[in-house]
Amino acid sequence: MAGRYKSDLKWSDVTPKAAFMDRRQLMVGAGALAMGSIAAPALAKLNAAPSKFSTDATPNSLEEITSYNNYYEFGVGKEDPARNAGAMSTDPWSVKIDGLVDKPGDYSFDDIMKGVDLEERIYRFRCVEAWSMVIPWVGFELADLLNRVGVQPGGKYVAFETAVLPDVMPGISRGYLEWPYREGLRMDEAMNPLTIIATGLYDDPIPNQNGAPLRLVVPWKYGFKSIKSIVRISVMDKEPPTSWNMANAREYGFYSNVNPEVDHPRWSQASERMVGGGFFAKRIPTLKFNGYEEQVASLYTGMDLSKNF
Ligand code: MTE
Repeated sequence: MAGRYKSDLKWSDVTPKAAFMDRRQLMVGAGALAMGSIAAPALAKLNAAPSKFSTDATPNSLEEITSYNNYYEFGVGKEDPARNAGAMSTDPWSVKIDGLVDKPGDYSFDDIMKGVDLEERIYRFRCVEAWSMVIPWVGFELADLLNRVGVQPGGKYVAFETAVLPDVMPGISRGYLEWPYREGLRMDEAMNPLTIIATGLYDDPIPNQNGAPLRLVVPWKYGFKSIKSIVRISVMDKEPPTSWNMANAREYGFYSNVNPEVDHPRWSQASERMVGGGFFAKRIPTLKFNGYEEQVASLYTGMDLSKNF
């Protein structure tokens, strides 16, 4: 645990990764061996370019990232997604892009991936439940996709929906949430270069339990904004309804920016437990905007973040 987290980290620093890459290859190998189900994709490396937006904090192991998940469609236990999500087929996959865009339509996974520049983005990930990880995503900027389909002048928000597949998702009939799982961003949040669509993890295609084949990652917001297995992206003129806000508006706001100064009504958000730190690991302080304050604080100038939580 010691040394895993550097509080004096400058998030905009470009990090030399050569030494880290060697160690990481070993970790991927070990993870793939330990988890037979993800050994196959390990053959198709994504060869993503490094990014200046990556943190140089040490990522969690592939096993930690793929065995401790929230994906309620597959059950509410942390091990349920790893156990159940393998039954979901992600090929073929199509995403409906609609609303206030110039080129609406049903886009296949391959259409979406055509011509995108895949980057590795090693991001800190903070769940609203007060645990955190460091995750080496592979993906592309959501702004690239939005610019390709052409956002019309009235487009102020972006709404997302997850697939609803009752045959393979045991959580659907349980009604834990109102399905489809929905999320949304304001247009400037969606266009921020930190906001990515992730398609990979540790240079391999993203495992189903982490949201294959395409999931959102918004690193300065609580993890629940990072919606998995996206099948619809709609550009809207109004703030869209979002699943956790619909379920409990008092506890989950639309913005959900990581904020140690605004507690969840049932627990403190001032600190977090790093997954993999071990039983005796100390909690670490939670950083405003999850450490991405420099890049995103200006999006919220003039807003009261205790009201717009
Ligand atoms: N997306 C869908 N469709 N369903 C979910 O239950 N859980 C969210 C988010 N995206 C969730 C989802 C929550 S609460 C978190 S913390 C993250 O996914 C967890 O992502 P991970 O399992 O890849 O760590």
